[in-house]
Amino acid sequence: MPERQYVRLERDQEIAIVTIDRRRKLNALNPRVVTEIGDAFEALCENDGVRGVVLTGAGEKAFVAGADIGVLAEMTPLSAVEVSRRGQEVLALIERFPKPVMAAVGGFALGGGCELAMACHLRIASSNARFGLPEVTLGIVPGYGGTIRLARIVGLGRALEMTLTGDMIDAATAERFGLVSRVVERAELLDAAVALMRRITKNAPVALRFALESIYSALDSAEADAHAFESSLFGVLAATGDMREGMDAFLERREANFQGR
Ligand code: COA
Repeated sequence: MPERQYVRLERDQEIAIVTIDRRRKLNALNPRVVTEIGDAFEALCENDGVRGVVLTGAGEKAFVAGADIGVLAEMTPLSAVEVSRRGQEVLALIERFPKPVMAAVGGFALGGGCELAMACHLRIASSNARFGLPEVTLGIVPGYGGTIRLARIVGLGRALEMTLTGDMIDAATAERFGLVSRVVERAELLDAAVALMRRITKNAPVALRFALESIYSALDSAEADAHAFESSLFGVLAATGDMREGMDAFLERREANFQGR
C-alpha cells in the first residue's frame, strides 16, 4: 500500500499543491483521508522550500462532499467524540499552519468539506462550487469546527441560516457572503489559485507567518492582549533580514528577494 493512498502532493516552485483524491466517493473524508491530510501538512511544515499551500479535491464534481457518511452511520457516542476531535485537530493544524493555505474549491464543499475549506486561510471557488453544512439533515451537527468558523467568516445571521436549514449556497452567494474571495471558471481554478498564492508568496515569509499568527490568536484573546502580541511580533520583525531586504528594495527601487530569515 502506498504511504498516502488518498492525498497527492505536488510542487509548483515554492507552492505545494495538496490534492485529496477519493473521487469515487466525491473525496469524502474517512479516517484515513483525514490522517493523510494531517501527514501531508506536517511534511510541508518542515519543508523550507514550500512557502504556500493550495488544497484541492480531485475530479470535476467535488472539493470534498463531507465526512464519510458510511463511517458516521456506525458511530457510537464515544467514537463520535473521537471522530470530531481528530477532525478538529487536523483542521487546527491547517488553520495554524505557518505558511498561507488556500482552498481551491471546484465543486461540492459540504459538511466536513466546507469545514475543511474554512480552516484554510483563503478560499477560491469555481462557478459550479456549492457550499453547505447539511449535518442537521442527518441528525448531527457540524463536528469539525463548523459551528465556530462559519459565523466568524460570514457573520452570525448567515451562519445560522446555513446551519439550521442545511441548504447549499452557490459560488456567487458564497462570494457575496465573503466565504470565498473570488470565483473563476472550473478549468481555470487551479491556475488561478496558484497565481493568487504566488502573489502572496512573493511577500516576506516571516511577515506572512506573523500576520497569520496575530490575526488568528486575536480571535481567542482579549483585545489588549492581542494588541500587545501584535506589537511584540512587529518588534521581532525589525530584527529580520527580510525587513532589511524589504526596506532596502523599496528605497533602491527594485524587487525584494526575501530569504525567510
Ligand atoms: N460520504 C460517503 N459517500 C459519499 C458522500 C459522503 N459524504 N458524498 C457522496 N458520496 C458517495 C455517494 O454515496 C456515491 O457513492 P456510490 O456511487 O458508491 O453510490 C458517490 O459518492 C457519488 O455521489 P452521488 O450521490 O451519486 O452524486 P450526486 O451527484 O448524485 O450527488 C451530492 C452529489 C454531493 C449532492 C450527494 O452525494 C450528497 O448529498 N452527499 C452527501 C453530502 C453530505 O451530506 N455531506 C455531509 C456529511 S456530514
